[in-house]
Amino acid sequence: MPWKTIKNMNVLILGGGGREHAFAWKIAQSSDCNKLFIAPGNAGTNEIGTNINININDFENIKAFVLSEKIELVLVGPEDPLVNGIYDFFQNDHQLKEVSLIGPSKKGAQLEGSKKFAKEFMARHNIPTAKYQAFTKDNLQEGYDFLEALKAPYVLKADGLAGGKGVLIIDQLEEAKAELKAMVTNSKFGKASSTVVIEEFLSGIELSVFILTDGESYKVLPSAKDYKRIGEGNTGLNTGGMGAVSPVPFADRFYLEKIEREIITPTIDGLKQDNITYKGFIFIGLINVKGEPKVIEYNVRMGDPEAEVVIPRITSDLLNLLKGINNGTFSEHDLEITDEVATTIMLVSKGYPGAYEIGKEISGIETVNNSIVFHAGTKNDGCVKTNGGRVIALTSFAETIDLALAKSFDSAKKISFDGKYYRKDIGSDL
Ligand code: AMP
Ligand code: GLY
Repeated sequence: MPWKTIKNMNVLILGGGGREHAFAWKIAQSSDCNKLFIAPGNAGTNEIGTNINININDFENIKAFVLSEKIELVLVGPEDPLVNGIYDFFQNDHQLKEVSLIGPSKKGAQLEGSKKFAKEFMARHNIPTAKYQAFTKDNLQEGYDFLEALKAPYVLKADGLAGGKGVLIIDQLEEAKAELKAMVTNSKFGKASSTVVIEEFLSGIELSVFILTDGESYKVLPSAKDYKRIGEGNTGLNTGGMGAVSPVPFADRFYLEKIEREIITPTIDGLKQDNITYKGFIFIGLINVKGEPKVIEYNVRMGDPEAEVVIPRITSDLLNLLKGINNGTFSEHDLEITDEVATTIMLVSKGYPGAYEIGKEISGIETVNNSIVFHAGTKNDGCVKTNGGRVIALTSFAETIDLALAKSFDSAKKISFDGKYYRKDIGSDL
């Protein structure tokens, strides 16, 4: 194990899903990594680092841990701590100031924390997106008028974070009006929906691009496509993501250059112009409308399960790159990507994304030899058990999507737990 030889940097990863296992897996391979901690982590991360039981929004406790373990780099997985201002907390604390925290400032995190903020940012910097307006209970009638002027289906988005549930796509005008009212006046999604963004429906294939930036320069990570619905043929409820493929075949070099020119560069320049400190990942959700890429959303972190295909395709030392973000060497490092395709299949608990049981014993993990097993919702309780809706992601590499998927599906059969479910059509549309 090469990372056991040269040791110098202590790293803390915040989060406990498949994305954080993928980060931990990659960082543990870096010759620059000394001690690796994951809070709270899962059964998989504890095999390559040390899990610690700290709430990721308890900044004082994180501070105490960072100081006691001499952590030099903190990588934030999910959006919550970022939107809550963990970057600013570190910057404003004289003991934490020198610790490198990978993520945007609280203001930058508004790109994900407020749909209205994101839309205004895009409008200000001429970044292509659906046309929109924002409404509250004080101008509800104008909201109804705006809906009447649009064509079905109607897209209603709670302004704030709503755990991935805040976007409604509705076919009937009257129903859209009723939902708008429920969102702004009856707090259907709590405070998150006291403001609602209504936007034009865009029709096309979705893909995501990922950027890593130090606020000055940026690197474009591999593209990926995720499968959000629980059911095959993209039916049923939205989930966090049931599988992913990288790269996305229709996003060829010319298309990616267009995305870079029309979306990525204006985004980075816009952050600079607006004096928004941003040192971390930007996840841009795009829709391809007749060859024109338009932004559906910004996220201020890596995606999950997109990270489980994007991160393993990076062949450069990720920790070295992350270190460069705060020591001024970021632009000097190359980002190397394998040409091989990566696919991941998510095994989930019966009932997910609704209610599900946890604590089911998982068997067969050790028999998987053709895929990387990234744990998501798992816990080691004497043996590995389920501990979440999304349980395990199985990432495979090959020369083609079909060959990689065949490996992931073969691995999916080898793992058993009570209530195991996965989509068997991931990637079939590509
Ligand atoms: P968001 O949380 O903004 O990414 O929205 C969740 C999902 O809703 C997206 O992944 C899209 O599938 C869909 N969606 C959001 N905005 C639009 C839009 N303007 N037109 C069509 N679909 C949309
Ligand atoms: N897989 C979508 C997300 O992470 O938001």
